[in-house]
Amino acid sequence: MRYAHIVGWGCYLPEHVLTNDDLANIVETSHEWIYTRTGIRERRIAADKESTATLAFEAAARALAIANIPSPKVDLIIVATSTPEYIFPSTASQLQDYLGATRAGAFDLSAACSGFVYGLSMAANAIASGSIDVALVVGAETMSRVLDWQDRGTCILFGDGAGAVVLRGSDVPGGVLASTLRSDGSGSNLLSLPNLSRNPVPIYGTTYANGHHKQTVHMNGRQVFRFATKVISDSIEDVLEKANLSMDDVSLIIPHQANVRIVETAAKRLNVSVERFFLNVDRAGNTSAASIPIALCDAIQNGRLQRDDHIVFVGFGGGLTWASAVIKWDVTPPEVTALRRNLRRARYVFARARTRILRLGRQFVAWVGGSPTPEARLKDADKKTTLPKSKIDDDHES
Ligand code: UT7
Repeated sequence: MRYAHIVGWGCYLPEHVLTNDDLANIVETSHEWIYTRTGIRERRIAADKESTATLAFEAAARALAIANIPSPKVDLIIVATSTPEYIFPSTASQLQDYLGATRAGAFDLSAACSGFVYGLSMAANAIASGSIDVALVVGAETMSRVLDWQDRGTCILFGDGAGAVVLRGSDVPGGVLASTLRSDGSGSNLLSLPNLSRNPVPIYGTTYANGHHKQTVHMNGRQVFRFATKVISDSIEDVLEKANLSMDDVSLIIPHQANVRIVETAAKRLNVSVERFFLNVDRAGNTSAASIPIALCDAIQNGRLQRDDHIVFVGFGGGLTWASAVIKWDVTPPEVTALRRNLRRARYVFARARTRILRLGRQFVAWVGGSPTPEARLKDADKKTTLPKSKIDDDHES
């Protein structure tokens, strides 16, 4: 029997801080309203040059450093995100490349704010089955790029950031003991982020569809609030039953960081003190799939986790989805020497150089063979599918 242990963790928050007072200059709101309704004081906003993949890289590199595992030893990379730069390639593939994790499979996971716990469960099961040994599970988001900054009901809640854990297989019992994943798509209209493919495009010979969808987060806050308070308690009870544990065995619950009031209400339903929940939503806001691993890092930093503690992760969000995992925290991070740290950084620089060389190599082969480069193919395809301007205007008018 193999057990999936968390052996490394890391998080990254962009430098730029957006306070509630800053938000009051953008929409009609106030620090008082935001803080009393949500518990949020500030959130971080990614710089122009940052992307979900670069945030993921920073968190993942830190997690691998603590685990002291070189990136080529990683078998699987899962990035939970609702804000990938591309539908494909996946952010996970970008991350695999940045890390030089040359033996890893990589894919993105879409389960909104529950995504990290979903990913953890998938990876832990793959390790327990013996099919892989080392997995990197990352939650990474640039929510600031998909918000309607005129909608005060949503733009005050979210922030950017990334968190990661490394899981490793071991014969020693412990690690991820149980998980439970759930979904209720009937609530998909309560919290959503429409994609480009929701908007029919004009193709020659077809009519234009009306209703184009704004590609920003839409939310029915009150309904999501109600859903969240119910599923947190149900999901925790479910997963503890699966692991044959009771609430008394749990030292700390790390919930998705959405709103302090949601957690207070859930704590009442569970009949436990709110102190048993770890909260850092005040400083990071709601970072969606990244919020649980970021909170995990803060909890470790604040000395809230002791060896052999049982901890519970609980996520909830769009889908609707919700998920919990119970973990035996039996981690002793290995000593990492400065030499190893520097070697790892050098490996990442080498990985970037390797990518450039591979791309140049492909271009050269295409040039020698006389076949168009991928970029030229795209331009050519664009020419073939672009409608004459006059035709577009005609269609609009009709
Ligand atoms: O990852 C999961 C993501 N989603 C969530 O966690 C969201 C869960 N829901 C919530 O956290 C809360 O519903 C919110 C914080 C979003 C809103 O709090 P609420 O207590 O449910 O407020 P509400 O939507 O019922 O609005 C109450 C009032 C309204 O004014 P009226 O109609 O009573 O005059 C809103 O227009 O507050 C107004 N309001 C605001 N006022 C100042 C809504 N947003 C703001 C704002 N600043 N930012």
